[in-house]
Amino acid sequence: MLLQNILIGYYNRYLIEQLMFFTLRYCIVLERKSVQIQCTQTGFYPEMDNIMLHQPKITVIGLGYVGLPLAVEFGKHFPTVGFDIDQRRIAELRAGIDNTQELTTDELQATTQLSFACESEQIKDSNIYIVTVPTPIDCHNRPDLTPLQKASTFLASVINSGDIVIYESTVYPGATEEVCIPLIEQHSGLTYNKDFFAGYSPERINPGDKTHRINNIVKVTSGSTPEIADFIDQLYGQIITAGTHKASSIRVAEAAKVIENTQRDLNIALINELAIIFNRLGIDTLEVLEAAGSKWNFLPFRPGLVGGHCISVDPYYLTHKAQEIGYHPEVILAGRRINDNMGTYVTESVIKLLTQKRIHVVDANILIMGLTFKENCPDLRNTRVVDIIDELITYHANIDIFDPWADSDEASSTYGYKLVETPEAGKYDAAILTVSHDQFRQMGVAGIRRLMKPDHVIYDVKYVLPKEEVDGRL
Ligand SMILES: NC(=O)c1ccc[n+]([C@@H]2O[C@H](COP(=O)([O-])OP(=O)(O)OC[C@H]3O[C@@H](n4cnc5c(N)ncnc54)[C@H](O)[C@@H]3O)[C@@H](O)[C@H]2O)c1
Repeated sequence: MLLQNILIGYYNRYLIEQLMFFTLRYCIVLERKSVQIQCTQTGFYPEMDNIMLHQPKITVIGLGYVGLPLAVEFGKHFPTVGFDIDQRRIAELRAGIDNTQELTTDELQATTQLSFACESEQIKDSNIYIVTVPTPIDCHNRPDLTPLQKASTFLASVINSGDIVIYESTVYPGATEEVCIPLIEQHSGLTYNKDFFAGYSPERINPGDKTHRINNIVKVTSGSTPEIADFIDQLYGQIITAGTHKASSIRVAEAAKVIENTQRDLNIALINELAIIFNRLGIDTLEVLEAAGSKWNFLPFRPGLVGGHCISVDPYYLTHKAQEIGYHPEVILAGRRINDNMGTYVTESVIKLLTQKRIHVVDANILIMGLTFKENCPDLRNTRVVDIIDELITYHANIDIFDPWADSDEASSTYGYKLVETPEAGKYDAAILTVSHDQFRQMGVAGIRRLMKPDHVIYDVKYVLPKEEVDGRL
């Protein structure tokens, strides 16, 4: 009898909830090419009464590796403005040039509903703002939220009542609502979750990867209220064919993103440590990894330098937050230390091989093959190849850097390096294959040996050449 009463109680509550749902104060109407949100006043959710979005007008703030592909996808469905403070970037994009090489001129020009802007006046009539500005670390490996803070303060001057701000930049759990939203409130006079709303939808694109594109990667979404979360999820559902995963809160979505890259960083750190151990044991690391990889659940990570704007940076966002709340992360920081030291390890290995061949490192001509942080991508940010170059320079070696993907001016302004366009034949005592660009694979052993002096060392960080053709590899 008691059980029966409990079940009837549950059933009645279920009916009431369903009734509330169907008399909901707004209905979300998804049409093929437009998302419509309409509010009606029922009094259940008075804080939502200000929302009256009939047709999303989107502005993407920050048109880098993440923002531009996103703006292009949204621009296929909705009126979209791509906004950036970099006027040169805007001028190039208007001319159909994407210097990140993620999109072709044809792809840019085929997006009929996308325009580009660097003036606030041009974005004031948008009702959805998506923030994709950088989230770097400072020289002490602490999160540098300056671009995010500036973008949030700027947004306060353009948003109106009822607008939604969605953050995509990678941050630590809590940053959106603890750092960004208060700035918008403070500078706009609007109240969060009453006058304006927010969401967080982390980006998972992989620059240089032509297979995993923005619309075929499942996207995590979240919103500042259940209704806004639904809306944001359906908005992204318009462009993401792979589907979306709606997280239960903004903090959950923020945490999910930062651990994706932290997990990857740690997995690579483990393999880097194994490579150091196997090199001492005189066992080839790749052969071990291939043998272990024959087991169904052995993960296919490879050793290497860990640089770039994400994997080597994001874990510090998480460790910063952990330390702020009194927990000192040990495993994550140990992984970071191992990965950050791989440049020094490679340099020492090359110097040892040179010495064994009686080639003096002082005045040796050393060719660095690859400067970008990863293969087939022009991104030079936080490349750890610089650790190898700078260490070799302290030994007074003569360094030539050859990278068909890197922009020479950027290499010069960011790192003070001059790139060689074509390495000289017969010039080099050592070549270090630091990045596995397709061009280096195409050169093959013959093409690379042509550049070397008769006595030389070839060190392969990225397994570009067969094992028997190189003097050393990770
Ligand atoms: N690059 C990746 O592979 C990747 C992948 C997933 C997530 N993310 C995250 O996405 C975010 C953006 O990364 P990215 O690689 O696209 O950066 P990026 O440096 O390529 O581009 C950022 C753009 O934002 C612009 N910008 C900076 N401050 C601005 C402001 N206040 N207002 C308007 N524009 C501004 C810059 O001029 C630049 O064009 C970061 O948080 C990053 O961690 C990056």
